[in-house]
Amino acid sequence: MKILIVGNGGREHALLWKLRRDAPDAEFFVTRANGGMTGATSLPLAPGELQALAAWVETNGVDFTVVGPEAPLAEGIADHFQAHGLAVFGPCKAAAEIESSKAFAKGLMQRHGIPTAAFACFDDLATAEAYVRAAETKLVVKASGLAAGKGVVVAEDAHEALEAVREMLAGSAFGVAGREVVIEERMTGEELSVFALTDGTHVTAMIPAQDHKRVGEGETGPNTGGMGAYAPVSIATPELMARVQTEILEPTVAAMAEEGRSFSGLLYAGLMLTETGPRVVEFNCRFGDPETQAVLPLLRSSLLDPMREIARGGSIEGLTLDWSDGAAATTVLASAGYPGDYRSGAEIGIPPGLESSGDVIVFHAGTKREADGRLVTAGGRVLAVTALAPSVAEAAERSRAAAERIRFDGRQFRRDIGWREIGRAEGTHA
Ligand code: AMP
Ligand code: GLY
Repeated sequence: MKILIVGNGGREHALLWKLRRDAPDAEFFVTRANGGMTGATSLPLAPGELQALAAWVETNGVDFTVVGPEAPLAEGIADHFQAHGLAVFGPCKAAAEIESSKAFAKGLMQRHGIPTAAFACFDDLATAEAYVRAAETKLVVKASGLAAGKGVVVAEDAHEALEAVREMLAGSAFGVAGREVVIEERMTGEELSVFALTDGTHVTAMIPAQDHKRVGEGETGPNTGGMGAYAPVSIATPELMARVQTEILEPTVAAMAEEGRSFSGLLYAGLMLTETGPRVVEFNCRFGDPETQAVLPLLRSSLLDPMREIARGGSIEGLTLDWSDGAAATTVLASAGYPGDYRSGAEIGIPPGLESSGDVIVFHAGTKREADGRLVTAGGRVLAVTALAPSVAEAAERSRAAAERIRFDGRQFRRDIGWREIGRAEGTHA
């Protein structure tokens, strides 16, 4: 079997790692493989080269393609592959709008009674300013389009909200993504990332995870793509997950089908656990990064089988996944300056034997193998170090210890991954 993975970050490395376990004899291909995706053949094509990718897959008899990032999905890679009769895991363009247009996603939730923050959409500055001035709650201002996790301002007061609205609608900071803004009521509560496999009708949720979006310890500093993650999350009890299934996941998949945008693939619900129950912060049309690096190592049953079933248009009715009893924690090592400007090309030293215990996995993201064999940094988020252990606290400790032993110039990482969960276990966090 030949499998192509589109994308070359930490999430895609985790997908490669899991799919290889599910199909040890398969031959793997990755678009512009990073420095750690050993054993996979690197294709010199970018995820956005839809036609060239489809042609390559057709010519080379690839059986199955998995799309990691949102951008090619938003551009219609799945539609393109399907038009050529190629099996692809990932939603079509119209369904990917659940992530690529926050205005669409919010409207969908409103039309179908899916719990989310109250909101309004604007493309006109004066109207948006008037709305902010009249608001009685704290606000969150979002660029509607894809902005790599950076188009969201959680405002402390009306002044900050007004500044954000002006920057997005009058400035050029977010380009096309900021031509429309969504202004939301600010919710409070803990966040939860829930991945769900869906064939367009049936939905099976994975174990919930939490990520750490801020760059600094104690959730300080600017938002990033994610500085770490852990799973499972004890506040996501079976009762809560049952509510997520019936109040959010199933109604969303049904709503997409009803609106003629059947969603098949991986639906990622970013939730906030508010006093009135779970509510949607955002939907993504793909696996999360770095939550994938924490969730997939805990999955004992096959990921490949349901993915292939979904890709070929089949059914996952009754699908249950088998999870290990333990926990996983992932620490992201980033370049100095990330999420702002950073330098690439620093040599990375990973001590030999770091992964030999079997409970540490080093997933590569922004890394590159030079012709002379040196491993160097090639991105903002460089590595994601996952550790497995019986509890989140032990997994976090192992992940941190392994991260400490990896060296490169300007390396930064958070040493408090899983702090909420660890606090709960110690009785210091509710
Ligand atoms: P998003 O890109 O929509 O996931 O937003 C990024 C982050 O901003 C989320 O993970 C939350 O921490 C925060 N956020 C977004 N929307 C809200 C909201 N309505 N209330 C409170 N925080 C929010
Ligand atoms: N970790 C957040 C995301 O993948 O969007």
